[in-house]
Amino acid sequence: MRHRLKSLLGVLRRRGKIRRYLQTHEVRKLHLGAGRNVLAGWLNTDLHDYGRGDELVHLDVRRRFPLPDASFDAVFSEHMIEHLTYAEGQQCLRECVRVLRPGGRIRIATPSLESLARLYDGGELQERYVRWAVETLEPEVDAAFPGVVVNNFFRSWGHRFIYDRQTLWHALTAAGFVDVEEHPLGELEQHLAEAAEFNEYETIVLEAERP
Ligand SMILES: C[S@@+](CC[C@H](N)C(=O)[O-])C[C@H]1O[C@@H](n2cnc3c(N)ncnc32)[C@H](O)[C@@H]1O
Repeated sequence: MRHRLKSLLGVLRRRGKIRRYLQTHEVRKLHLGAGRNVLAGWLNTDLHDYGRGDELVHLDVRRRFPLPDASFDAVFSEHMIEHLTYAEGQQCLRECVRVLRPGGRIRIATPSLESLARLYDGGELQERYVRWAVETLEPEVDAAFPGVVVNNFFRSWGHRFIYDRQTLWHALTAAGFVDVEEHPLGELEQHLAEAAEFNEYETIVLEAERP
């Protein structure tokens, strides 16, 4: 009973936050899987609240978004889609199409499988990246090799599907987006701010339009 009351209150609170956001923003921007990167002017959402329930709205991207059709101008997600299976990613991207207005844009930043594969080519940045990744993420392994990083990438943080340019491009168009373009990292991307050059190395950013 208590649990049901609590979850009903949670639903009502979320509905209120969403209604207030939609009423007070002429340009509406939806941030999915925001984590601790709360962006000003955006409806910041995540599966978890990180103790920041006032700033984050609970939204599980694997389910129908609690948002009206064609109500947003932009959607952004950074290092989130790789936490979904490909099918869950499709469900999420189709929901993005639904809540975006025609002409609205999506921007997805995610680690790239191609960057992982390029670790095997060697090179100064790649070697530094491998050393950094093994020291920070797999400290118990005494071998700074690309294979350690690749294993970590596929097994850690709840990662389910790592995209490359081709698969992410396909996923966006299969979900209904058009005019896909690759972009460099920009001011929205804050992931791994303390290791910006490594984030830039590993991340791919694609934008697309809702027709
Ligand atoms: C690696 S963190 C990235 C956080 C932030 N975007 C950044 O780049 O620093 C992945 C985020 O995705 C969120 N996430 C994972 N699965 C999700 C889901 N099904 N629905 C919504 N958010 C999800 C996690 O809670 C987490 O905050």
